[in-house]
Amino acid sequence: MQSSAAAFQPCLPLLHLNSNPRYTMRRRARPQLSPKAVLNPVQSFSPEDSIRPSLKDMAPYTPILPYEVLAQKLGRHPSDIVKLDANENPFGPAPAVATALADAKYLHIYPDPESSSLRDAIAQYTNLPKEYIMAGAGADELIDLLFRLFVTPGTDDSIVNCPPTFGMYKFDADVNGARIINVSRHPDFAVDVDAIERIFDEQRNPPKLLFVASPNNPDGGVLSDDHLKRLLALPTLVVLDEAYFEFSGHNRMAWVPHYDNLVVLRTFSKWAALAGMRVGYGAFPLSLMKHLWKIKQPYNVSVASQIAATASIEQKRDLLDKVDRLIKQRHIFYDRVAKYDWLLPYPSQSNYVLCRVSEDRGAAQIRQQLIDRGILIRYYTTPGLTDCIRVSMGTEAQMERLYSALDQL
Ligand SMILES: Cc1ncc(COP(=O)(O)O)c(C=O)c1O
Repeated sequence: MQSSAAAFQPCLPLLHLNSNPRYTMRRRARPQLSPKAVLNPVQSFSPEDSIRPSLKDMAPYTPILPYEVLAQKLGRHPSDIVKLDANENPFGPAPAVATALADAKYLHIYPDPESSSLRDAIAQYTNLPKEYIMAGAGADELIDLLFRLFVTPGTDDSIVNCPPTFGMYKFDADVNGARIINVSRHPDFAVDVDAIERIFDEQRNPPKLLFVASPNNPDGGVLSDDHLKRLLALPTLVVLDEAYFEFSGHNRMAWVPHYDNLVVLRTFSKWAALAGMRVGYGAFPLSLMKHLWKIKQPYNVSVASQIAATASIEQKRDLLDKVDRLIKQRHIFYDRVAKYDWLLPYPSQSNYVLCRVSEDRGAAQIRQQLIDRGILIRYYTTPGLTDCIRVSMGTEAQMERLYSALDQL
């Protein structure tokens, strides 16, 4: 924690302004300056005017509300809320994580910048040599890192995004000044590979990155091997986001050593229930590794996060049993909602199911009626998804509460 004296450090450089005649004049003419004016004597300068124009006008990312805030807003105790809106894992981390954190000895020391022990464990878990692997503060950090490595702001550098999909690809493209070429998915949410190939035929500067989530968020569909091979034949870096791989079994991490232009991203947020700890990892072509190591924040994965993720891999059998329980809930979900003719679920290979809601019921309305019963699900305002809801799979008890609420609607 900074002391209050240290917090005032940013003001000190103003002392140098004493040699600025404009500053001296103002001080003599108006000795009764308000504290604000003293802190900012050059009245005509507003730092906000210096912000990168593309960021000044950028729409903010809408994160989910913290659990406690949400509970307070709904007037319910957190334990009374069924939270099925963010694809989190309702079983929580392996108990060994809490023990390992309680035993942690070196929280006062900066973490290992290479996350070496954790990467050893990931190498074992993925069956991939450690040299290919980098850990990050969530897969989110690694997405941003790729933008920073490849995109030069203010140039024509572009990326291909396949909406509807995970919002961070667009968010990081906007933050990093990349032009986004959107190639919408087909009505069944399959990637439009033909259209992507045409983009590469047409563009003088090929897009630098191509993002595909598999399973895709929000529908849970998987990119086929054939389609992935066609994408890998394009002159771009293909970023395959396998955040939900454990729920689908489709694993393309083993492809990384065989393709110079494939990155596979993963996370501990879903299968290991560590969303709050922020740990993810990626497998990258070896040619990129030294550059990624150069530009990443040195201490990007905290000591606590490295400990928690390593302990989770040690407990993988228990955690993967819980993953199986969530997959089972996904199967049950299709049976249970088949009786509502106003709800059409899409096939999913993940820990959530996207459903289209009939017009007379309205997705926003269904979401509100569930909120009134303490059940949170995801609803969309993005074009093409406004009549959809996404339900994350919960514990057996949480799902029963959902079904009895749906029966009442
Ligand atoms: C497709 C996809 N990738 C990545 C993430 C984020 O992963 P992390 O929590 O490791 O940043 C999410 C989170 O919802 C996601 O849906």
